[in-house]
Amino acid sequence: MKLAIIGTGYVGLITGACFAEFGYQTVCIDKDENRVNDLNNSKCPFYEPGIEDLLDKHLNKTKLLSFSNSLSASIHDADIIFITVGTPTKRIEGEADLSFVWNVAEEISNNINKYCIVVTKSTVPVGTTKEVKSIIAKKINEKNFDVVSNPEFLREGSAINDFMRPDRVVIGCENKKSEDIMKELYRPLYLLETPLISTTVESAEITKYASNSFLATKISFINQVADLCEKVGADVQDVAKGMGIDKRIGNKFLHAGPGYGGSCFPKDVKAFITTAQKHDVDLSILSSVDTFNENRINKISKKIISKANLNKGDYVSLLGLSFKPNTDDVRDSTSLKITKLLQDRGIFVKAFDPEAMDNAKKENTELQLFDSAYEACEDTKAIIIGTEWNEFRALNFLKIQKSSKNLIIFDLRNIYNAKEIEELGLQYFGTGK
Ligand SMILES: NC(=O)c1ccc[n+]([C@@H]2O[C@H](COP(=O)([O-])OP(=O)(O)OC[C@H]3O[C@@H](n4cnc5c(N)ncnc54)[C@H](O)[C@@H]3O)[C@@H](O)[C@H]2O)c1
Repeated sequence: MKLAIIGTGYVGLITGACFAEFGYQTVCIDKDENRVNDLNNSKCPFYEPGIEDLLDKHLNKTKLLSFSNSLSASIHDADIIFITVGTPTKRIEGEADLSFVWNVAEEISNNINKYCIVVTKSTVPVGTTKEVKSIIAKKINEKNFDVVSNPEFLREGSAINDFMRPDRVVIGCENKKSEDIMKELYRPLYLLETPLISTTVESAEITKYASNSFLATKISFINQVADLCEKVGADVQDVAKGMGIDKRIGNKFLHAGPGYGGSCFPKDVKAFITTAQKHDVDLSILSSVDTFNENRINKISKKIISKANLNKGDYVSLLGLSFKPNTDDVRDSTSLKITKLLQDRGIFVKAFDPEAMDNAKKENTELQLFDSAYEACEDTKAIIIGTEWNEFRALNFLKIQKSSKNLIIFDLRNIYNAKEIEELGLQYFGTGK
């Protein structure tokens, strides 16, 4: 089976490299020339554990993987074409911007000349895959291609493992022919007994949004409980433990913090709300999740400013800029949002992140960046732990205290024990404690 993947972002590149690992001849296409040049030199455009080894193996040794700038030269002999381009939020309406998907559909329609399956792997609102079909059908007879929705559930930071050992694969097909081909494609996962959920195209599209929205809801829920815990002397970590042990609830995504960020949850929640509104359906539970999450950063910034008595010209240190550990992705990062709010009040932010500093600097040129957590924490009034990277879990606060007196720690991710920090003579504020 020959595969073509259009878009070499987090999803496209991981998908391409992992399918090559399964043994498929795979070409990955991107319109970004620099990105393709880098990839052809085994250079990954972003940080993701394990990806450079896979790239090197299949680009240079097995030669199963290749990269190209030209869609027209690359898809003509593909059996399955995956659309993995971005679907960001439209600035004003909150709905998904599908312009990249439409452009690719148009280009595909101009370049296929044998039967193939066109798969939407990007996260797209219900109805999009059928719309892709209509665009292609303007030029290609419907007998000569099928469309499938096969949403991706990988997480940045553990993307390769998530792709190779997924909890489930969802495929939404219109007929048995395309369903059988998709099942054959994912046959390497049968060995692991991965559940393969075969559904309609519409159900597959909705499954992705419903999954991300549910996880976002769980996060906002525990964050609201955390706010209550702070007021009444309870500890949200104990509460979450007590709740999560109940198998009906589960202990995942019950970590209180600064709110959800990243390239998926914020935009997917908004897009799902818009889809519901278009169909006149009440999904107000999600509007509440979205609004609460948006406002949370303001509240946290105000809390930091007031508890640390921060004034114009003061310095604070921020550890962690990526939206979560093990990635350099800063899209919708809560750390960067807090930074901006502090800077707006004339407060200087000194920061360190193990991988995300280059991307963060592009977003916020006033950020002062340092080579280590310790350097970023010199001469500061407060330390904010914004992302729970492993290397922030055992900081030597005695060393930090030498250059910064009366330090206050804002542990937004609850990675420290309050008592231990207070015993060192520092003030500690966790989330929901
Ligand atoms: N990032 C994640 O963790 C994740 C997880 C699951 C699903 N998704 C979904 O997958 C999709 C892709 O996300 P991403 O984070 O990989 O996006 P991304 O923005 O990192 O990458 C998209 C790539 O597509 C390329 N592209 C755009 N138009 C193109 C065209 N006409 N031809 C060729 N290349 C083109 C861009 O140059 C870019 O390199 C989104 O819908 C997203 O919601 C993302």
